[in-house]
Amino acid sequence: MKFFIDTANLEQIKEAQALGILDGVTTNPSLMAKEGITGENNIINHYKAICELVDGDVSAEVISTDFDGMVKEGEALAALNPQIVVKLPMIKDGVKACKYFSSKGIKTNVTLVFSAGQALLAAKAGATYVSPFIGRLDDISTDGLNLIAEIRQIYDNYGFATEILAASVRHIMHIIDCAKLGSDVMTGPLSAIEGLLKHPLTDIGLAKFLADYKKGN
Ligand code: E4P
Repeated sequence: MKFFIDTANLEQIKEAQALGILDGVTTNPSLMAKEGITGENNIINHYKAICELVDGDVSAEVISTDFDGMVKEGEALAALNPQIVVKLPMIKDGVKACKYFSSKGIKTNVTLVFSAGQALLAAKAGATYVSPFIGRLDDISTDGLNLIAEIRQIYDNYGFATEILAASVRHIMHIIDCAKLGSDVMTGPLSAIEGLLKHPLTDIGLAKFLADYKKGN
């Protein structure tokens, strides 16, 4: 399972990269705004900075909602660095743009996916990644993890190469459950990634080992 970090915060990206387990980064316009990154040039420079920090895929989202605009923006983003994955919304023109980019060998991430039908369309359009937002489904009392299971079944039935990128991950149980269900990738905050490290018995055990070591010295 690949681990992506879902942030535009360079310090957090550095920290996850230093852990040695990071496979990529996802961003979106809200995450950029949260870091105070606004304006086209600043956003472009920020993507370049992220690509320098990590080795893997970096999702960069288009703002246009029409086919021509998405193609223009996506081509400019893809030209920044081979690590860039063009992130497209799950709307009619987004599906068309996904087909356009996939036929040109440019990586895509179809975002804002909330149903199995949407995921099926993304795969048919040749998406590299499909991003079901499991946390936002949970927020409206729907089973986000069930969507991962449904997409896994559909993709396996037909051998679709599109990777399931579980997005809107909020906590460690989301990560573990996505891994059990066979999600190819998860993207989440640093807190959820680092949360995987923690177990009280590890802390208690380590404290005892160190105390016993001191007794003998
Ligand atoms: C995915 O690519 C999105 O950036 C993200 O996971 C959305 O998460 P949120 O629901 O926590 O905003």
